[in-house]
Amino acid sequence: MIIFDNVTKVFENKWTALFNINLKISKGEFVFVVGPTGAGKSTLLRLIYGGDKITSGRLQVFNYLLNNASDKDITNLRRKIGIIFQDFKLLMDRTVSENIEFALRVIGIKENLIPHIIADVLNKVGLYNRRDFYPYQLSGGEQQKIAIARAIAKNPEILLADEPTANIDYKGSDEIIGLLKEINYSGTTVIMATHDHILAETSKKRIIRLENGKIRSDGN
Ligand SMILES: Nc1ncnc2c1ncn2[C@@H]1O[C@H](COP(=O)(O)OP(=O)(O)OP(=O)(O)O)[C@@H](O)[C@H]1O
Ligand SMILES: [Mg+2]
Repeated sequence: MIIFDNVTKVFENKWTALFNINLKISKGEFVFVVGPTGAGKSTLLRLIYGGDKITSGRLQVFNYLLNNASDKDITNLRRKIGIIFQDFKLLMDRTVSENIEFALRVIGIKENLIPHIIADVLNKVGLYNRRDFYPYQLSGGEQQKIAIARAIAKNPEILLADEPTANIDYKGSDEIIGLLKEINYSGTTVIMATHDHILAETSKKRIIRLENGKIRSDGN
């Protein structure tokens, strides 16, 4: 489903964030990407959804070759990918419900289904009673959960979660991992970046360890 073949990412300022990455992620997997700050976790996730272009190598996601994908390919690719951004990227001038509604409209979900999906995902993250709040009226952890609800609302084939537990307490983190495992169980491939290696290790899933832009290990 995702194949990195000798992928290197060099930014405009000549900083190399990822070196010769080789990686295969199959449909239905749950994978942690672990590593210290600056290791390249967010960059790796960003390449997968076409948020940034690779510098050399070959990157395939579904049937798209991201080396030279057109804008149309990238749009189609993103329809199938849910993204939980490290900084949430919630729309501040829209309520919780409207944030999710917007994400569903973009991908053309039938109008009459939208309220049901919103209620379903907000119940999943336990924040249905905050549906009419604006993001600035929510705590950091609550905003995090709304970002998760929005990402899973489109029932994506791949879910990219960038530090989804960073703003949440210990119990909340367990809940989020439980939620992601549930989503994974229903068929979605989940890739979660975290600096919390203990959280990853206790989850008994595949762990890709990044350090200074290189894969140090890949396994359990
Ligand atoms: N647009 C950019 N231009 C230049 N360098 C960048 C850019 N974005 C990221 N980097 C560099 O690439 C490296 C990897 O960044 P990245 O955001 O992928 O790290 P990370 O593993 O997600 O870290 P964190 O745990 O802090 O989120 C960092 O050293 C960063 O300075
Ligand atoms: Mg990051």
